[in-house]
Amino acid sequence: MNSSDIRSRFLAFFEKRGHTVIPSASLVTSDEKGVTNPTLFNTAGMQPLIPFLLGKPFHGANGIEVTRLVDAQKCVRTIDIDDIGDKTHATFFEMLGNWSLGDYFKKEAIEWSFEFLTDKKEGLGLDPNRLYVSVFEGDKNAPRDEEAAGIWREVFKKNRIDPGGNTQSGEAGRIFYLSADKNWWEAGENGPCGPDTEMFYDISSSDMPQGHFSGGLLTHEEYVKADDARQVLEVWNDVFMQYEKKDGKIIGKLPKPSVDTGAGLERLTATLQGVDNIYDTDLLKPVMDKIKELSKNWDSGSVESLKSARIVADHIKAAVFMIADGVTPSNTDRGYVLRKLIRRAIRHSDILGMPPVLEKLVNVIQVQYQSIYPNVINKDNGKEIQKIIQAEESKFRETLKHGLKEFERLATKNISGHDAFSLFSSYGFPVELTIELAKEKGISVDLKEFESEFKKHQELSRSGAEQKFKGGLADANDPMVLRYHTATHLLHQALFDVLGEGVGQKGSNITAERLRFDFSYGAKMTDEQKKKVEDIINEKIAEKLPMSQIIMPKAEAEKTGARHFFGEKYGEEISIYFIGPVAGAMPTKSDLANAYSKEFCGGPHVNNTSELAGPEGKWKFKIQKEEASSQGVRRIKAVLY
Ligand code: ALA
Repeated sequence: MNSSDIRSRFLAFFEKRGHTVIPSASLVTSDEKGVTNPTLFNTAGMQPLIPFLLGKPFHGANGIEVTRLVDAQKCVRTIDIDDIGDKTHATFFEMLGNWSLGDYFKKEAIEWSFEFLTDKKEGLGLDPNRLYVSVFEGDKNAPRDEEAAGIWREVFKKNRIDPGGNTQSGEAGRIFYLSADKNWWEAGENGPCGPDTEMFYDISSSDMPQGHFSGGLLTHEEYVKADDARQVLEVWNDVFMQYEKKDGKIIGKLPKPSVDTGAGLERLTATLQGVDNIYDTDLLKPVMDKIKELSKNWDSGSVESLKSARIVADHIKAAVFMIADGVTPSNTDRGYVLRKLIRRAIRHSDILGMPPVLEKLVNVIQVQYQSIYPNVINKDNGKEIQKIIQAEESKFRETLKHGLKEFERLATKNISGHDAFSLFSSYGFPVELTIELAKEKGISVDLKEFESEFKKHQELSRSGAEQKFKGGLADANDPMVLRYHTATHLLHQALFDVLGEGVGQKGSNITAERLRFDFSYGAKMTDEQKKKVEDIINEKIAEKLPMSQIIMPKAEAEKTGARHFFGEKYGEEISIYFIGPVAGAMPTKSDLANAYSKEFCGGPHVNNTSELAGPEGKWKFKIQKEEASSQGVRRIKAVLY
């Protein structure tokens, strides 16, 4: 069975059971007005359907309300980017899903999942003896899912398979109770959520003893718990949507319990085609074959070659689908994700010794998918996507050329970690390349120092606007961006004033439209606290305070009380930006000592807080949103208008 058969069988199976087939939504999530959506791309099939899971009626093509849907949804997940190259993770994938919008619930969902997986005529005909499932063990939010476990037991028994175990004790042969981090599903802090049941298929060859890999004897339960792709593959997840979350807390039950299921097409295909990884399925094999054919350094025995080829295949495929859905490479948001994917693909194609012909891979993907997702060839017969990738490739190669010049300048001696890092951060010059070239010249690269610089950079890029400027992500020439950067410093201090010293900056992101600031704090801010913060900032804007910069040695800077990121390694000379009155012609250390806000920061900023009030002096600082961003971290979005 090829992947197209699996996709169409899935749709037909559920259509026959009363579901309306709907097309995949775009990969790109829709933006709220002026505010970037919390996820840039749809990361699960349920995302475009959230309003309907929350109770909004879904009208089919003829205008009549329908309560059963089925689809194959395009998804992009970049959270797993470091896992790409292993057997089961993909940046782009399709999620098969059937949906009950307040219609059927656990019984039908589970029975149909089992039937589709195992039925030879209408389903996939998988061996039910190799099926293992997990259910939710219960916590303070929701009870232990005895109901789902009971349904599974019946389903197994009806098919003359011993479910084993004991529902009471939770000890089970093929039904395992797992905790919320495994068997609870939600898309972020807000929206529908509930316990789920996951299905795992034993993909080991039949004569492979349990425990073969790990030395010790592992049980299936342990493999399932570890989601260990050497033995079992999670093939499907049925979520029983019952609750609604707001800011990370359950605020009540949904008007009608619903079902959201997700089966990764790539993984199902691997299972069906008897291969142990998604790259050997017909969904990725054609592009993998092309890569191998084009690679001059292909080493079939080498793990590195294989990993690089997989990264090229995965990233270019994701890039094709992103561009088809309207994303173009840029330095912000979705465009930046796309740019990173293309550049990483180029880097790995170089490792493989491929000529600069990524568009040939694009073509393979287009040919393969055009009948299912015609927009991969919509524009200019598909040439447009190829051109965008080509243009990005030449741009990146140009960058590399500049890096090469800089390398030559530095390579008169051994290369310090600092220099290797600056080649990377300022010239986009991958460190592997620096090492390679250094080797040719018989000089060394201080990798230990590079690693520590790199780590510092990662922490910094998680933490903020400052890094965004250095990395050139936000446009430092845009006066709005400068205003929001200065406003971020005011906000940081005002939060300390109102919420206390426990507040710590966790991240910051600035666009010309708004600022976003993440900080550690254990509770939702009250309206009064938000108002206080706004008032303080508007007061500081009205006071027309200068923003000043002072540079001093690190040891001294640390004593000024200026805020900096904990755990960050700074250079020997520190730039501090402070907001407060300046007595003389030049800012002095005593001005700094009395300043309202002081931070280690590379700038740039406005010259005076009055600029935050806009050209006519009328704008006010306003918090638009205050919400949970993750456990113990709050996120503020604010605007000047
Ligand atoms: N929404 C569920 C998932 O993505 C089905 O796993």
